[in-house]
Amino acid sequence: MSRLLNKVAFITGAAGGIGLATAKLFLQEGASVIMADRDADLLEDARETMEQLVKAEGAEGSFNIVKTDVTSQEEIEQTIGHVLRKFSRIDIAVLNAGIPGANMPLEDYPVDLFDEVMAVNLRGVWLSLRSVIPAMKQQQSGSIIMTSSIQGLSALPGTTAYTTSKHALVGMMKGAALELAEFGIRVNTIHPGYVETPMMDAIHHAVVPDAPEKFQASIASSVPMGRYAKADEIARLMLFLASDESSYSTGSSFLADGGILAALPSF
Ligand SMILES: NC(=O)c1ccc[n+]([C@@H]2O[C@H](COP(=O)([O-])OP(=O)(O)OC[C@H]3O[C@@H](n4cnc5c(N)ncnc54)[C@H](O)[C@@H]3O)[C@@H](O)[C@H]2O)c1
Repeated sequence: MSRLLNKVAFITGAAGGIGLATAKLFLQEGASVIMADRDADLLEDARETMEQLVKAEGAEGSFNIVKTDVTSQEEIEQTIGHVLRKFSRIDIAVLNAGIPGANMPLEDYPVDLFDEVMAVNLRGVWLSLRSVIPAMKQQQSGSIIMTSSIQGLSALPGTTAYTTSKHALVGMMKGAALELAEFGIRVNTIHPGYVETPMMDAIHHAVVPDAPEKFQASIASSVPMGRYAKADEIARLMLFLASDESSYSTGSSFLADGGILAALPSF
């Protein structure tokens, strides 16, 4: 339970499903976790969850909550400044905040919504990435993990904005990995399949408002493993990439998708 002992971890989207599961696991593994999210109410719930965890398990790590919108360069830089004043280092950055956008034909997709998806899923990751680099370069170490998606490697119709943003992260990750390898900084993407989180709940309700559970069941039955992932199963992949156990992995895409992308249409 101490694979991240003395490490400082910055996580965006940390009040949501995958982000919070990652924050909990990192805390249990001994990290000082900085939890950034734009949603103040969700952050308050996350604070309670983390406090309960500390009470129940007496975790070795610590946590801090900082309301931050990743689309704002000013807010990101303020938050990173706060982290550096407090801890003088950043070992791990999980750039995870993301939004799904809508599911609709390309020609009907609102331009404003396309811009918003890009602002959070792509520009927000880039802003966070560039803000953590100076400290990591100084330390000559760091692990940066970007949350892409199976939609960063394949596409679903109706969600081109999301797919575009998640594919673009792979390019960003590869470029950053090459630029930063000589400084001991590793950069990788993870690609979850369907995960039980508030984001997927919202999608079920938006696409099939009358029968969201039925819709979820039909998606789950199309997954080779026959189910969605739990957020904790994605957090465990984050832990591997954040820890020194992945010391030779950089510039790579890591899947946790229950076999989805292994499948060709059956006949
Ligand atoms: N749930 C899935 O099935 C799934 C699959 C593949 C990839 N992902 C990706 O995983 C990441 C986390 O998704 P999740 O399922 O946990 O979703 P979630 O909605 O539960 O959590 C996302 C969190 O990001 C926060 N956020 C959104 N915009 C933000 C902004 N501008 N600044 C700061 N925080 C912001 C939200 O407040 C929320 O707490 C996303 O990037 C998502 O695209 C999710």
